[in-house]
Amino acid sequence: MSPPLSVLFVTLAFSLHCVIISASDPDPVQDFCIPNPRYGSIRTAHLAILPCKNSSEASVDDFVFSGMQSAGNFSDTGLAAIPVNPTIFPGINTLGMSFIRADLKVGGINPPHFHPRATEISYVVRGSVYSGFVDSGNRVFARTIEEGEVMVFPRGLVHFQMNVGDKPATIFGSFNSQNPGSQKIPAAIFGSGIDEELLEKTFGLSPKEIGRMRRKFDPRV
Ligand SMILES: *[C@@H]1O[C@H](CO)[C@@H](O)[C@H](O)[C@H]1NC(C)=O
Ligand SMILES: *[C@@H]1O[C@H](CO)[C@@H](O)[C@H](O)[C@H]1NC(C)=O
Repeated sequence: MSPPLSVLFVTLAFSLHCVIISASDPDPVQDFCIPNPRYGSIRTAHLAILPCKNSSEASVDDFVFSGMQSAGNFSDTGLAAIPVNPTIFPGINTLGMSFIRADLKVGGINPPHFHPRATEISYVVRGSVYSGFVDSGNRVFARTIEEGEVMVFPRGLVHFQMNVGDKPATIFGSFNSQNPGSQKIPAAIFGSGIDEELLEKTFGLSPKEIGRMRRKFDPRV
């Protein structure tokens, strides 16, 4: 006996719904969800949705983040990034977003990277920042973004930034996922342990040149 048409229809509608929602963080089913420390340290837990504590125990401090009033620690490319996600800001758990403060020294760069799970809005708070992304046809969309301007980096596309002004730059980036992920191209290629022969053949580089790249980007070398 075949199932009634209405059952098939509901099943189909539900499958479509699943396909649609799987493209982003799930919708919240409560006003907010402050992670409950009783279920393990939120610092060590991965950023998957964490169990909530009773909402009566939430306080205003859960919804205020004060850890990015000044720049973070600078890397050797002149970038200081403070990524803010539910492990350090409990109030944003389940809200489908997170953000970052990035500072660039004069001439500093944010090397090419991408976020597999989020589109990024990048607001230049201070400075002049050459910013851009590359689409899947290898077309580059890049220009200098001035103070007060905003650029969008579509989800999953490689993007980059460089301070081309004569003073330090500050950028506020916002993501439509609480766990956007960040994959840096140089480290993914040369710092991940891909077989060196494959890299030599890919880039037409000698073993010595590959060794130099590995020493620069592989923390284990
Ligand atoms: C949450 O806290 C309130 C107030 O203390 C209490 O009445 C309620 O039963 C609690 N809910 C749960 C699920 O523990
Ligand atoms: C900067 O480095 C210091 C010393 O290692 C560390 O205590 C501090 O948490 C770091 N700051 C940030 C924003 O990561």
